[in-house]
Amino acid sequence: MPNPDKARQTILIVDDSPENILILMDLLRDQYTITVATNGMRALQLAGCETPPDLILLDVLMPGMNGYEVCSQLKTKPHTADIPVIFVTALSDESDEQKGLDLGAVDFILKPFSPPLVKARVRNHLELKKHRDHLEDVVHERTRELVLTQDAAIFGLGVLAEYRDIETGQHIMRTRKYVQLMAEQLKGHSSFSGYFSDATMHLLINSAPLHDIGKVAIPDVVLQKPEPLTELEFLTIKQHTVFGKEIINRIEAGMSDKSASSFLRFAEELAYTHHEHWDGSGYHGLKGEEIPVSGRLMAMADIYDALTSARIYKPAYPHEEALRIIIEGDGRTRPEHFDPVVLQAFVDLCDTFRQISSGRN
Ligand SMILES: [Fe+2]
Repeated sequence: MPNPDKARQTILIVDDSPENILILMDLLRDQYTITVATNGMRALQLAGCETPPDLILLDVLMPGMNGYEVCSQLKTKPHTADIPVIFVTALSDESDEQKGLDLGAVDFILKPFSPPLVKARVRNHLELKKHRDHLEDVVHERTRELVLTQDAAIFGLGVLAEYRDIETGQHIMRTRKYVQLMAEQLKGHSSFSGYFSDATMHLLINSAPLHDIGKVAIPDVVLQKPEPLTELEFLTIKQHTVFGKEIINRIEAGMSDKSASSFLRFAEELAYTHHEHWDGSGYHGLKGEEIPVSGRLMAMADIYDALTSARIYKPAYPHEEALRIIIEGDGRTRPEHFDPVVLQAFVDLCDTFRQISSGRN
């Protein structure tokens, strides 16, 4: 993290010799804030604090932990890895300098040193650091803006689909909450190790509202029919998963920067696979682990919400009845439809599902 006090940068001087520290302090304290450490352990402590120094001047030969060890430890920790390190040492062998640079130091100053030269090198490296920090801030801000824009666009498209299906009401918001709830519960589960990274969680949760986007292509007479559907009408309804995938594909195809389209990958998965069943009896016959994790979570969320919501062809079931149908089956819905691990997560979380369903969460 960059030093928030941009006006005055901080230098950490590490040397076991107080005389050497004083010389460097005299040279630099007019322009910079100086902190000092007389051994490697203290240097690591100071570098690892909440506001790390902008630059470290590091002696090589010190009792206990030497400068090379300090440098290599700094470079292994994300919090301190980017702090520029300049070795200041009496070791004049070329191999010493090579070793320091190989460890990630940005420069190597030999003792006895020329004061103007030290000042110039320190200034140059701190200028570079300042520019890099600024660039990081700009990238961070632009990325944040881009993510917010993507989230808004996805949500807007999801709302569009909801407008076509008048009885689904708050379906989008609730199912998104259910997916998030199960994803957080399953984050540490061995069946999904490595799957739920922070980036995946974000994409998954924010793409969930698009799962029924394909309904925009289904005629109202079918979508809003109160009577039981004919075989042909049911085939038409099933097509909303295919249309959804196609719509998202077309959005992706229209994006000039293909690398930016990764956020739509989950939306495409969800749209196509949220009616798949673990036992292979779903819309497209995908089975078990052929079904993406996103689709398995959405299937669970979608069924619970469908059961506990009033639809044009059925009343809303109470939570207990929905829970019973999912766990025991009712002929139409069966427990074999769900990934057993996802089903267990649902059962474990069912009180929170009930709260969300009743609008209290
Ligand atoms: Fe659907």
